[in-house]
Amino acid sequence: MTTQTNAQTAPKEKVVLAYSGGLDTSVMVKWLQTEKNLDVIAICGNVGQDAEDLEWVKQKAYDLGAIYAESLDMREEYAEEILTKAIAANGMYEDTYPLLSALSRPLIVKHLVDIAHKHGAKYVAHGCTGKGNDQVRFDTSIAALDPNLIVLAPVREWDLLTREQEMEWAAEHGVPVPTTAAKPYSIDDNLWGRAIECGVLEDPMNEPPADIWTMTVDPTEAPDEPEYFTVGFEAGKPVSLNGEQMPLLDLIIKMNELCGKHGFGRIDLIEDRVVGIKSHEVYECPASLALIKMHHDLETMCFDRNTIIYKHDVDQKWSTLVYDGMWYSQLKEALDAFCASTQKFVTGEVRAKLYKGSLTIVGRQSPYAIYDYNLATYGDEDTFDRSASAGFIKLYSLELQTWSRKQGPGSQLK
Ligand code: ARG
Repeated sequence: MTTQTNAQTAPKEKVVLAYSGGLDTSVMVKWLQTEKNLDVIAICGNVGQDAEDLEWVKQKAYDLGAIYAESLDMREEYAEEILTKAIAANGMYEDTYPLLSALSRPLIVKHLVDIAHKHGAKYVAHGCTGKGNDQVRFDTSIAALDPNLIVLAPVREWDLLTREQEMEWAAEHGVPVPTTAAKPYSIDDNLWGRAIECGVLEDPMNEPPADIWTMTVDPTEAPDEPEYFTVGFEAGKPVSLNGEQMPLLDLIIKMNELCGKHGFGRIDLIEDRVVGIKSHEVYECPASLALIKMHHDLETMCFDRNTIIYKHDVDQKWSTLVYDGMWYSQLKEALDAFCASTQKFVTGEVRAKLYKGSLTIVGRQSPYAIYDYNLATYGDEDTFDRSASAGFIKLYSLELQTWSRKQGPGSQLK
C-alpha cells in the first residue's frame, strides 16, 4: 500500500522541448506528458523568425501543461557568435546555400542543453522529421554538448502520420487545432534568410509560385533606379552600412530590407541532404548572400594568391561540416581558428549596386590591400620591373622544355 503511494508521487523525469508554438510541437507538449509520462519544459528561441517577442508561445506552452516555459531572444547571440563565423568562412553549402537552418540549430541546442542542466532534465526533444537534415543537427549538437542527454524526436516515433491523424489526436487531448488550412510548404526562417520546401516544389520542373516569396520583391517589380550602398568591414566582420556604424544584428535586418526591396537574394537549387536525399529547395537570403559576396570580395583585395586559393577549400569544407551537423566538432573548431587568423587584415569598404534582382560589386578599398596600384598600372606610375619577367619565365618553363624534348605534347595536339 505504502509502496504504491510512493510510486504515484515520485517526481517525474523532465524533458526540455524546442517549442515553436505550431501544431507539431504543441501536440508534442501533450504527447510527451501522456505517452512518455514526462514533465515538459518548453523553450522557444527567437533567431529572427519574428521581429516581435514570442511571449504568446510561452503562454501557449503553459496552457498545454508545461511545468516551465521560456521565450529566449537569441538574435544578438546568433549574429555575434554564429553569423560572424559564417561570414568569415564565406559559408555556402554546395557553393549556393548560405546555411541558414544549419547555423541556427547549434545555438538553439546550446540553450536547450543549458536549460536541461539547470532543471536537471534527462531528456531533450525536438520536432524534426525523420527525413531531413535538421534532426541530424539537433542530435549531433546535443551529443557533442552533453553525451549523457537522451534525445527524443516524437515525429520519428509516433504514429500520427497524416495531418488529419495529428489534428484528431490534438482535438482528443485538448490541444488547440488550427482553423486555417495547412500551409502548403515547410518553412524555416531566421535572420540569415528563409527556406521553403515541399508542396509544388517537389517537382523540380516547377517554377516557385509568386506567392511563396516574402522577403524579396519580384525583380521585375523592383525599383527602376539602381541603388548603391557601402558596407564597412573590420577584421572580416561587417560593422557599418553607408558609413553608419551599427551592431551586426541591426546591419543584417537593414540589409534584408534593402536587398529584398530590389529583388536580390532568391535561390532555387537541387540540394544534397546528409540523409542521402536530393531535394528541390528554394530560399530567399538577401542579407546573407550580399554580405558573403561583399566579404569575399574584400578578401580578394587583402589575401595573397596562396591564401585565396587555399581558403576557398577551407570555406567549402567548413560549409559542408556545418551543413552536416558538425558545428561542435574538432575539425570545425580548427577551421574557425584558420579563418579567424586570415581575417586580421580584412578591413575596408565594399560598394555594391542593387538593380532588379542583381547585386554587382562596384568598388572596394582597404588600408591593408595587397592590391598595389603602382604594380598593376599600365600607366606612367608603373613601378613593376618588366626586365625580371624574362628570367622568371625561363626557369618557370625549364621543365616544360625538357619534357617537350623527351616526350612531346603528344595527344594534347590532336
Ligand atoms: N534544406 C535546408 C537545410 O537542410 C533547409 C531546411 C529547412 N527546414 C525546414 N523545416 N523547412 O539546411
